[in-house]
Amino acid sequence: MNKQTVALWGCGRIGRVTGKLLLENGYILCWLYDRDPSKSSTLASDLGAGEVGDAGLEPDAHPQVDVIIDATGDPSLLPYWEAVLHLGKSSNVFLTRREPKAQEHVMMGVASVEPSISQGTTVAMGSCTGNALVPFISHLSREYLPSTFSCRVLHPLKQDDDYSLRSIETALSRSLADWEPDLAKKAMTQSMELPVDRGMALDLSICFNQPVSQKSMESWLKSLPSRCPHIQFSHTPPTSDSIVGNKASAVIDPGWNMVGNQLRLLLWQDNELGVSARILDLLETI
Ligand SMILES: NC(=O)c1ccc[n+]([C@@H]2O[C@H](COP(=O)([O-])OP(=O)(O)OC[C@H]3O[C@@H](n4cnc5c(N)ncnc54)[C@H](OP(=O)(O)O)[C@@H]3O)[C@@H](O)[C@H]2O)c1
Repeated sequence: MNKQTVALWGCGRIGRVTGKLLLENGYILCWLYDRDPSKSSTLASDLGAGEVGDAGLEPDAHPQVDVIIDATGDPSLLPYWEAVLHLGKSSNVFLTRREPKAQEHVMMGVASVEPSISQGTTVAMGSCTGNALVPFISHLSREYLPSTFSCRVLHPLKQDDDYSLRSIETALSRSLADWEPDLAKKAMTQSMELPVDRGMALDLSICFNQPVSQKSMESWLKSLPSRCPHIQFSHTPPTSDSIVGNKASAVIDPGWNMVGNQLRLLLWQDNELGVSARILDLLETI
């Protein structure tokens, strides 16, 4: 049983699922922080674990823990983390997002890249969309090279009170460029917010240099999880509700189509667990 101690910063959507996952996996959730102390108190009470800390504390007052998880989304905390790490208060700070200014970057499941980190660093774990697309497309391109591809993200609500369809910004092209710069030059990305609470799909359209047979693509898609365990193949059509609670980075929808050299498919993800489960995976490997 793992006995690592953790301080969790940010008790919103990602903080809540991350806290639960840590406890389920035997981690000791010692401290919970949020700008709004009512959120950290509610989470501590819901989880039955963790003391509520003051998010305004100085670095030298930060409690000693094995790891810190930052699910705040606040880039202004980076100098604070560097000071906390410099004082030896923790081995690493894991950021539940793509953060260009983090000292290290990890994307679990990218082909030909073994995750590794050093002690005493801030570690960015990538965005939810990056975690879904980048491992999939990096493995695919090693077998069938795309000439161009497009990806539309169907993302759940970011603003609780706005139940409408709308176009939103996505950093997906930048996530691709971080790990697969040559593929990023061939990609077009867009994102749309849908009126659902949780669960995301990536609508992919991929053009290859040559025609690929249906049979060959089917066998490749079904065998991908054996090479990349963060990706699953679903035998039944997922919905955002059925995806919630799934720890995969991407679930391949069985309703894909291949016509000539064009592939159309959906990748599904629990956008909240898709990043926090990868932090757990990384913690298990280091
Ligand atoms: N939701 C997703 O689908 C998703 C998926 C993957 C990654 N992420 C990333 O994970 C991070 C958190 O996302 P989220 O959806 O969980 O956001 P959220 O629901 O808004 O939760 C963030 C929490 O952190 C608090 N916070 C902000 N700055 C803080 C600070 N300096 N000190 C202490 N607490 C602070 C916020 O308080 P206030 O509300 O008062 O600001 C809020 O309670 C973001 O970087 C996001 O990009 C999100």
